[in-house]
Amino acid sequence: MAAFFMKKIVITGAKGLLGEACCRLFSNDYEVFALTRADIDLADIDQLPGLLRGMEFDYLVNTAAMSGLEHCLDEPELAKKVNRDAPRVMAEICHERGAKMLQVSTDYVLDGREDVVHEESSETRGSCVYSATKLAAEKLVLEACENSVIGRVSWLFGRGRATFVDQVMNTALAGERGSYISDKYSVPNFSDFLVPVMGRVLESNIQGIVHLTNNSEAESWYSYAEKIIGIAINLGMLNDNFDIIDKNKLDEISFFREERPRYTAMRPKRLSEELNVEVGNWEEGVRCYLKQKSENSLTNK
Ligand SMILES: NC(=O)c1ccc[n+]([C@@H]2O[C@H](COP(=O)([O-])OP(=O)(O)OC[C@H]3O[C@@H](n4cnc5c(N)ncnc54)[C@H](OP(=O)(O)O)[C@@H]3O)[C@@H](O)[C@H]2O)c1
Repeated sequence: MAAFFMKKIVITGAKGLLGEACCRLFSNDYEVFALTRADIDLADIDQLPGLLRGMEFDYLVNTAAMSGLEHCLDEPELAKKVNRDAPRVMAEICHERGAKMLQVSTDYVLDGREDVVHEESSETRGSCVYSATKLAAEKLVLEACENSVIGRVSWLFGRGRATFVDQVMNTALAGERGSYISDKYSVPNFSDFLVPVMGRVLESNIQGIVHLTNNSEAESWYSYAEKIIGIAINLGMLNDNFDIIDKNKLDEISFFREERPRYTAMRPKRLSEELNVEVGNWEEGVRCYLKQKSENSLTNK
């Protein structure tokens, strides 16, 4: 009988939103090595080569990041280490051992000042410490490891941690009015729908920048909230009362001290043209996610 060897994959940020989904879903097809902060503090760059050189792997997916914009503003040197230097070191080790690296990046590297849907070749900017460090990582990873992919993602939701979807639902379920920004746009994505496509990317010959997103119209936070509520009403999770949300403007949010790019919707041009794959539609993702949540809360009772 032929022996069956699973390829080995390292996932960093294993306790984060996307990292959790990667570990859970990739474990069907790969031998997964999940790295959390307890295994390695990525700010401790000197420890990283030793750790990675001691592991056997075919792929490395770096989902770890310091992603709070104000946290990055307040601790720029730490942000540079975690978001820029650690991915560069990972890329160097991947190159050394012939592994493929998928560096997870962000729509926030895009310029965002025009109302245009961005393709992989669109202008970038790096308007704040977070996006500048992520943008620098994109360049350094591609330089250090030929067999690497920069997978830009946007507005994730999923099981790994509470996100905007949970915030909207919790506010509505508490009978409170929610106020959501109506002049900032991107495209939501369900982490469980992204991971199989990330697997396709790893198994393909594609290299360089790839937009990992479903091909939907841009949403504002307000229209996103409106659609979440509509789906929840449809599932019988909320009463049929649409008038429970208000609009506000990006400039009105006083605790945002960093500039957020305003319009960062991405189109998955390379996924569709070169790999012929699609990420599942985000509204279907919200439906799946809310159903899972309500089933879990019923079984936990
Ligand atoms: N979520 C989004 O909407 C979104 C949008 C665009 C791009 N992205 C990008 O997508 C990727 C995944 O995002 P996510 O939402 O899954 O992030 P997340 O939930 O915040 O998870 C990030 C993970 O990184 C780990 N981490 C942070 N600093 C670390 C350090 N110094 N050493 C070791 N681990 C560290 C965190 O560990 P702890 O759990 O211990 O803190 C956490 O598990 C990130 O690269 C992010 O930039 C996310």
